[in-house]
Amino acid sequence: MPLPGPIDPPARLLMGPGPITADPRVLRAMSAQLVGQYDPYMTQVMAEVQELYRGVFETANPQTLLIDSTARGAIEAALVSIVSPGDRVLVPIMGRFGHLLAEIAGRSGAEVHTLDVPWGRVAEIDAIAAAMERVRPRVLAMVHGDTSTTMMQPFEGLRELCDRFDCLLYADVTATLGGNPFPVDGWGVDAATAGLQKCLGGPSGSAPATFSPRAVEAIEARRSIEAGIRVEGDPVAAAPIRSNYFDLAMIFDYWGPRRLNHHTEATTMLYGAHECARLVLDQGLAAYQERHALHGAAMLAGVEGLGLEVYGDRAHKMANIVGVVIPEGVDGEAVRGALLEEWGIEIGTSFGPLAGRVWRIGTMGYNARRDAVLTTLAALEAVLRAQGHAVPTVGGVEAAGECYVNAGDGSPA
Ligand SMILES: Cc1ncc(COP(=O)(O)O)c(C=O)c1O
Repeated sequence: MPLPGPIDPPARLLMGPGPITADPRVLRAMSAQLVGQYDPYMTQVMAEVQELYRGVFETANPQTLLIDSTARGAIEAALVSIVSPGDRVLVPIMGRFGHLLAEIAGRSGAEVHTLDVPWGRVAEIDAIAAAMERVRPRVLAMVHGDTSTTMMQPFEGLRELCDRFDCLLYADVTATLGGNPFPVDGWGVDAATAGLQKCLGGPSGSAPATFSPRAVEAIEARRSIEAGIRVEGDPVAAAPIRSNYFDLAMIFDYWGPRRLNHHTEATTMLYGAHECARLVLDQGLAAYQERHALHGAAMLAGVEGLGLEVYGDRAHKMANIVGVVIPEGVDGEAVRGALLEEWGIEIGTSFGPLAGRVWRIGTMGYNARRDAVLTTLAALEAVLRAQGHAVPTVGGVEAAGECYVNAGDGSPA
């Protein structure tokens, strides 16, 4: 085989459910040179990252850090470290990622109970309360925004419910953090994990996470330090956390004052995660979320302006992704293919029962921008027409434009 050429990807506008086009500021940070594991600069950046993400998560949790993995790894770290084999875990499922939580909790040894919600809807608090009454779980594990359906679960009231049953509250905020309100302390969440590749504007591969003192207590109770690095007095548990890589007690030591060696830091991802949080806090968390609300609303208006139907319960939609029902007679994959090949634009389809039935269009992170929204709508219109589907001329672009004018935003911010 001849030597392959250097990496030189085609120009793309990633308007799917994530990953999205990375912010150039994040890519620049990621091109910085490495320093050693215990270089003072490394530990300074780690400390800065912890403080930055306390801002993004709106928490005072000392244990706020990065898991060196994609978002799925952070879910696994949280659940495998909090859940002891045999613990009851309640998982309301409203889409693909609820199933993922149940799967990971099960593999962590939990006795998993689910509350199945029809896709396109969210779980009602009364239904969650009834399930809690029945199951008496030690952990309530929920997806905040299930990317597969674009639905966002309300978290108000869950802390009170968990207090009533002495239960820990875990949230997967991979697809929502930064672009939608998620005040960890305000909502009394015990553990929350995310990823960089959605609203935070970075690539996947590092997962911000935060743990309340209550969650830390549960994790520390299972602390066991591996041979080779343990010193006298370090605990060795009879039944340690089942994963070594995702053992949060050891990861806390690695990020903490002991700097106990665990893995080799993914320095380039650390730099990227640092810049992602700076992007959010530089603009201001509230303004960053408002930007997602504005461009998400414009995309939704544009989709409707093209005469297309929006999927799911509108009242509980995530700001940053819209599900679009693929019209009768339209080949959804052919439309996605033409968008990519002719316009360099990627949009997503969905999973399971929604595969081939729904497109998902994201407006998040670097692509929560007016020009990205308008270009995508113009392209979708052209492609739909080329496929023989009648759509109102410039209907999408006009409806989105109107949305910007009504919001007093004529600028391409
Ligand atoms: C809600 C949600 N949870 C978890 C994940 C898994 O993330 P990753 O692919 O980074 O492991 C995703 C990915 O799209 C997601 O949308």
